[in-house]
Amino acid sequence: MAPAPPTPREWLITSILLLVILYYSNSRVHDYFIPAPQPHTPRPPHSIDTLKQNTQSYDARLTWGSKSAPESQVLSHVPGWSIIDKLYISNGTVYIVSDDPDAVPDRDNMYSKGVDILPGKEAEESRLPSDNDIQIITTAAARKLFGTGAYLVDGVTFLVNDPPQFVRHYYHWTAELIFGFWRTYSSLDPSIQKEGNTSLPQPRHMWFNRLDAFRWRDPTNMNQLVVRSIFPDVTMEFLDDWDDRTKMGAPFVFERVVLADRSSAMRAYNYQRYQRTAAVPFGLPGSVYWWQTLRNNVVQFAGMDWRDGSSTNDKPVITYISRQAWGRRILLKEDHERLVKELYRLRDAHGWEVNVVLMEKLDRAEQIRLAVRTTIMMGVHGNGLTNLIWMQPTPRTTVMEFFYPGGFAHDYEFTARSLGITHYGFWGSSSFTSPNLPLNAYPDGFQGSSIPIDAEAVGRLCHDRLTLSFEVDD
Ligand SMILES: *[C@@H]1O[C@H](CO)[C@@H](O)[C@H](O)[C@H]1NC(C)=O
Ligand SMILES: *[C@@H]1O[C@H](CO)[C@@H](O)[C@H](O)[C@H]1NC(C)=O
Repeated sequence: MAPAPPTPREWLITSILLLVILYYSNSRVHDYFIPAPQPHTPRPPHSIDTLKQNTQSYDARLTWGSKSAPESQVLSHVPGWSIIDKLYISNGTVYIVSDDPDAVPDRDNMYSKGVDILPGKEAEESRLPSDNDIQIITTAAARKLFGTGAYLVDGVTFLVNDPPQFVRHYYHWTAELIFGFWRTYSSLDPSIQKEGNTSLPQPRHMWFNRLDAFRWRDPTNMNQLVVRSIFPDVTMEFLDDWDDRTKMGAPFVFERVVLADRSSAMRAYNYQRYQRTAAVPFGLPGSVYWWQTLRNNVVQFAGMDWRDGSSTNDKPVITYISRQAWGRRILLKEDHERLVKELYRLRDAHGWEVNVVLMEKLDRAEQIRLAVRTTIMMGVHGNGLTNLIWMQPTPRTTVMEFFYPGGFAHDYEFTARSLGITHYGFWGSSSFTSPNLPLNAYPDGFQGSSIPIDAEAVGRLCHDRLTLSFEVDD
């Protein structure tokens, strides 16, 4: 016989049962959701106000009405590097507004035509700026030229008036452009300590008025990593954006600009001495820990703590960056092999960590982490040594750079020294360090494949550096 249809009581029990099952299975599902991560550093509430409902107009213009235009103020300056409040641009020309032109540096030391750098006196003169590039004008002239106001570019802008020539390269980008920029800007905060805290606001914009957008990323993708990790909310503008603004026929005014110009930096003594544009702003005041602010951000991005790094107490780490796979600017094969053997001998004798690496085989974060942990970094002169800028400077942190005998370039020497890292250059078995440095020289063989190195001399210097006793305990 057919089963009896369920009674209302049975319906009720079944429904309750179903609901209970549903409830528990649902809470099970919830268990699998990973709670949303808490942002580990709360962001300052600087942008919250703009999200409020309000009926004000946007503050797009700096308006002076019938009064005279506000004067520009040069806060800090050495050739090629200037910090200027209220710098104006109009129709593609840069304007400094001042009724006291004596208080404004020579325009040739601030700006140029921004064209490729070719050698020679004539080329140098052809790069000097004209009235189409930069003018220093009075407030009355500004009132006449600009009218009653200018569109405001808020916050701090890093404006780079350089041709593409030296941009697409990890060393030039990071250890020259960003280095020089930050050394200039951080001159406004000489109190930066090891942990890198600063009162300086993060730059809001980076503008390149001579460069197309696709021409700043480097083949190793390090330029991008560096910018996005040190200034995560910076926006970048390039030549086409500059042209947009030029064609509007309206003036713009920067609240604060850090202006970089390679050609005018080259006019400075420090450039001529060291062949580095970033050497010039070291004439400005600044903290010995000036770089830590940016370094610590990159170190954190790579997954480490800013305190990480070689200290005088830890097991030393020696990293030899080999260029042997590159085929040019490399060590003699047998000298490279002897060096590797000698380093492994030191490892076995003293328990030190030794890494022999091809930088290009490591991913970007690995390169940074290795540099952070390294006590002694060594290698033939080349871009691989750029990673020394992430090392933790301590009294025994050392860079050893191998050159073809008689050859020398200041690139990594100056970079190391400006961070408080000891640098030794090697010519075979002899070594030299600041202040007893040779002048720049690129003899035949500099770029070649037969650079000699005396493995034992390198080993002895490693030993000396790592067994020094230090009074300061960092
Ligand atoms: C704008 O700049 C261009 C090139 O520098 C110049 O030829 C032109 O005369 C300028 N126009 C105005 C209105 O100043
Ligand atoms: C540096 O900033 C961090 C937060 O970013 C803070 O916890 C720390 O106390 C600051 N240190 C100093 C010395 O101000």
